[in-house]
Formats: sequence, structure tokens, C-alpha cells
Amino acid sequence: MDQSLARFSESISFDHRLYKHDIRGSIAHARMLAKQGILTDPEFLQIERELLSIQDRIERQELPFRIELEDIHMHIEQALIDALGDVGRKLHTARSRNDQIATDLRLWVRDQLDHVDELLEQLQRAFLSRCDLDHGVILPAYTHMQRAQPVLAAHYWLAYMEKLQRDRSRLADCRRRVNSCPLGGAAVAGTSMPIDRRMTAQLLGFESLAANSIDISSDRDFAVESVFVLSMIATHLSGWAEEWILWSTTEFGFLKLPQAFCTGSSIMPQKVNPDTLELTRGKSARVIGNLQTLLVLLKGLPLAYNRDLQEDKPPLFDAFDTVIACLELAVPIVQGSKLQTEAIAKRLDQGYLDATALMEAIMLQGIPQRTAHHKVGALVALAKEQNITLAELSDQDFLQVDPNFVGKSLRKSLGVQGAVESYRSLGSSGPEFVAEQIALWKNKL
Ligand code: ARG
Repeated sequence: MDQSLARFSESISFDHRLYKHDIRGSIAHARMLAKQGILTDPEFLQIERELLSIQDRIERQELPFRIELEDIHMHIEQALIDALGDVGRKLHTARSRNDQIATDLRLWVRDQLDHVDELLEQLQRAFLSRCDLDHGVILPAYTHMQRAQPVLAAHYWLAYMEKLQRDRSRLADCRRRVNSCPLGGAAVAGTSMPIDRRMTAQLLGFESLAANSIDISSDRDFAVESVFVLSMIATHLSGWAEEWILWSTTEFGFLKLPQAFCTGSSIMPQKVNPDTLELTRGKSARVIGNLQTLLVLLKGLPLAYNRDLQEDKPPLFDAFDTVIACLELAVPIVQGSKLQTEAIAKRLDQGYLDATALMEAIMLQGIPQRTAHHKVGALVALAKEQNITLAELSDQDFLQVDPNFVGKSLRKSLGVQGAVESYRSLGSSGPEFVAEQIALWKNKL
């Protein structure tokens, strides 16, 4: 082989990180070969012992990687043959690198999915503990990035809990399809050797057996799916990061980020920059790009294994590495940030956040929604004219808009506190519903 091709086609520079899963797959395969009488028991024990020692050598960085040996599978097999000779040459019986890489990758993805799920749970716990920390704090909720209605801060945190829960459920769903065993598919048609695929599947903790050898050697749906799940997580994190970047500006002044996760400026001594959040927002682009790369990689491939598939690893690895890094930092940021409650409270009067609650109070008196909307619009205009809040309008002002408006009963829904307490639909920011959700989540986590 020409050196230029060796350099072009090697994957050891990135697939070396599959070594543990490759060895685990090989030991299961050898154990099965022995049970089937294809290897003797002593041969199996020799192979197992040697593979574990190779794993050790890789971990101590004592197994040099050479591009001539292409990939992790060949490196491990060659080391085995170097140590055991003909016994080592038997390991690859009834196996091809095509079902081998499919197996390694599924085992690796399965582990990573579990790790991501743990981190998602940690992030949920961080948001949940904020619900107690920020008990009773009211924030403006926004639509179109304009002040809309007052809500409890906890209601915000619970919104993120829901998004993360959907991520976790997508992940669990995806994991079921990842967890199907390709080993034994061999190159493309299966094998005439008397193997026991059920046994290897069980040894490797797979839930099901992939049923078609042609499909086995070509299928990377599980990679695409998991990177989609990661893209969705990255998108959620990016939206959250954007929100908290805004909230930490002087203009908003809602939030103080933990200093240890911010950076300074070399020229502006006063600056505290939210780099972690900006990078979280920025890195989502890579994850989404990786999803695109995988889809484009696969879209023109005929059955079954094509070498193109080797290119699945860099985007797959990068997507996991990136999302894991983002989640690891999101947890302490959610835990360590402080709501600037005084500054927030001072400006809750601005933006007529209680207008909708007032409108609904009027509707409860039997006035049609469109009419009530119109009348509250008039009240807001009156308040704006005098540069005051709705609560500060006089009875006179109310009666001017509608002679039937009896100030007192309507006034109960005014002010952000009154508005928040007036919410009574399931899923609303009404304090009892929020408390109920917090209790449910505490139970669940
Ligand atoms: N390094 C290869 C990959 O990642 C392993 C499978 C190679 N199979 C083959 N028939 N050349 O796709």
C-alpha cells in the first residue's frame, strides 16, 4: 500500500477510543466460539487473558499506533497474534470488521447515552433546587421578547425541566434501537460457521438481535438518531444560554452568573463576560452540523458496508464530546447563578404585566373577551398618559372606561402578585400548580 493511501485511509487516530468496547466484543465472541466448540476452552482463556493485557497496554500507552494497521480492530488483533500466534489468528472466525465496528460503535454509543442521561438528570436537579432557592420570586414572562405576563421564577425553571425530560425520553427511545446486536452478521451474508448469536448478544447486554446481515453491515441509523437527540439537547442548551446571557446584561440585570464560569477582558477591567454560555450557544452549531454530516454521509450509500461509513466516527464522537462538555458546565452555572431579586422587583411594575389578568377579571363579570380586551386597552392608555401603573389608576379612571366597573373586585387582580395568584388553569404559573409540579418532580427525581 502506498504511504499516501495509508495516511488517507487510517482511522486509528480517532477510533482508538473504541478499544475497550472492541476488546469487550472480542472476548464475548471468543467465549461463544469456545462454547460452540470452534475454539477449545484453553484457547479461549489464552485469548481472554491476552486481550485484557492488551487493554492494559493501551491504557498505559504502551501499544504504539501505526497507520499501516489502519484501525483499532487491526491493532488489537495484530497484538493478539504477536503474542499468541495461531491461537490469535482464530479470533476473527465468523466475524468481519463490518459487524465488529457496528458492535463496537453501538456499545460505545450506549455507554455515552447513559452518561448524557446522568448529566441531564443532574441539570434537572439543579433547576429543581433553584425552585426552592427562588421561592416566591416573580419574573416577567416574555412573548416576542416583550414583557407579557408575570410568572413565578420556579415556573421558568420547571419549563426547562420539561424540555430536559423530553430529551431524556428521546434518549431512552433511541437507546432501545442502539441496543440491538449486530455481531454475527459477519461481512454481509452471515456465516456458515455454527455460531450462537443469541449468546454474544446476551453477553454484551444487548436487548435484541439485529435480524438481517445486509442491514447490519450498513445500518448507522442509531448514530444519526443519537446525534439528533444530541442536537435537540444542544438546541435547548443554546436557547437557555441565550436567555441567561441577556438576563446577565446591565440592561436586564436579572441574573448574576458565578464568577468562576465567566471571564474578564484584557482591556476593559470592569467586564465579566459570559463566555461559557456563549460557547454553549456557539457549540450547538457543531452538533447540528454533525447531524447534517451524518445524514449526507449516508444518503447515497447502496447496501451494504461501504468504506464511507468510517467517516461516521468523527462527527459522532464530536457530537457526544461537545454536548457532554456543555452539560458538565451547565450544571454549576444553573446552581451558582443568583437572581437579582431586588432589581427585578423594582421594575415589575413596568410593562403592564397585569393587563391580561385584569382583562380576565372583567370577563369573569360576564363581559365578552373582545370587549374586555378593548376596555383594558383603554385603561392601559389612560395609565400610560399619566405615566402610572394600572393599580395606580383612580376609581374615576375605571368608571370613565366603563360605568359598571366597580373598582374593588377588579383591583384584586392588579399588580404582579395579584395576577400570579389569579392563574388557575392546569400548567399555569398559579402558585398551587407550581407547588404541585415541584412536588411531582421531587418525587420523580
Ligand atoms: N475502520 C473501519 C470503519 O470504521 C472498520 C470496518 C472496515 N471494514 C472493511 N471492510 N474495510 O468503517
